[in-house]
Amino acid sequence: MLISFICNILISIIAYFITRKLIPNLKEMFIRSNIYGVDLNKDNGIKIPEAFGVVTGCIFLISLFLFIPIPFGHIFFKDKSDDFSNNEFVELISALLSICCMILLGFADDVLDLKWRHKLLLPTIASLPLLMVYYVNFNSTTIMLPKILHDIFTSSINIGFFYYVYMGSLAVFCTNAINILAGINGLEVGQSLIIAISVIAFNLLQIFKDSVSEKHQLSLYIMCPYLATTLALWEFNKYPSSVFVGDTFNYLSGMTFAVVGILGHFSKTLLLFFIPQILNFLYSTPQLFHLIPCPRHRLPKFDPKSGLLNYSKTSFKLDELSLFGRFFFFVLKSFRLIKYEVTKDSVIFCNNLTLINFFIIFTGPIHENKLNSLILYFQIVCSLFAFMIIYPLAHIFYN
Ligand code: UD1
Ligand code: MG
Repeated sequence: MLISFICNILISIIAYFITRKLIPNLKEMFIRSNIYGVDLNKDNGIKIPEAFGVVTGCIFLISLFLFIPIPFGHIFFKDKSDDFSNNEFVELISALLSICCMILLGFADDVLDLKWRHKLLLPTIASLPLLMVYYVNFNSTTIMLPKILHDIFTSSINIGFFYYVYMGSLAVFCTNAINILAGINGLEVGQSLIIAISVIAFNLLQIFKDSVSEKHQLSLYIMCPYLATTLALWEFNKYPSSVFVGDTFNYLSGMTFAVVGILGHFSKTLLLFFIPQILNFLYSTPQLFHLIPCPRHRLPKFDPKSGLLNYSKTSFKLDELSLFGRFFFFVLKSFRLIKYEVTKDSVIFCNNLTLINFFIIFTGPIHENKLNSLILYFQIVCSLFAFMIIYPLAHIFYN
């Protein structure tokens, strides 16, 4: 394993430098092809090349293509001494196929600006090759139950087909959850870096803990080149962004995390590294399901005079909302989770329901870079919290 791991690290380091060199060289080409956006939190109107996830995604895939012969050398060189079997070979190839599919679909989204229903459909389709391999290789659809339920049920139950629905949903969730916690410079890449580092740390801890660890090795081999290419992207996407990552990057990242979670059998642990994204998703649900009006962009509002960001608003009249809409508004209002004002003609101006705006409600108008750091610190604290509960809690509930 050590030789494969060292080669993987070396390939990742080379991938980092190539990506860092390539990104500035490709900026003009993207703008010429009309793949650019305008930074809505600046008042300079500069064209910023968009969808650079496609560049890091390609280098990430090429790195893995070049890496394949190393741990699977015996397939090519008839040397049985190395550590990976044909099953893992198929898993890695199917992981690459799903990630590759997601890059293609994400890029299509950036260029064609697809509708929300497609955004839900795309990751489901892209995860099919992976689910097929899962079916052939493991087909384990049994979940362990916590100790307290052992007396009522058994220690584990087989949920059959629903396990596949769960895995498909995981891919849909991971891809979209990163995409909707976005809109300030560096946030999409920053959160992905923290999740990637958390997954790598978890894999290493598991490898040191257990002797049987092929699943975690496979995850490490995928995560290291991902981390390297994403780190290179961070240099250009952090405040002030000179490139935007596009939905390509968000989909590619979400799919990469879902793939390692599924193949590594740690999808529940993976979700613990997504706490800010889960909170943002739950808080967003009334707008995502259009119970409360959802504008095209929900990112914070830039004030050119002060140069600071304030929370952005959506507006509606209470009697325009459905019954569910009114219910959610009432609940959010009662728990003081929103900031709103009502005009004389009963129009309600309420903050857009994102974690980013929620932070601004507490901090007051804030500089973009400071806000980004604040949310990333929150992500780090959540990851540390996840590690604090993974081992002790697993012991209490499952042993
Ligand atoms: C998601 C969010 C949307 C948010 C957008 C920002 C939901 C349902 N959708 O939409 O509310 O406004 O992401 O990415 O929550 N941009 C910036 N600064 C940045 C990053 C992006 O101004 O740091 C702007 C640029 O104009 C860029 C555009 O956002 O071109 C990209 O938006 P896009 O990724 O297409 O939005 P969605 O993913 O559909
Ligand atoms: Mg997006």
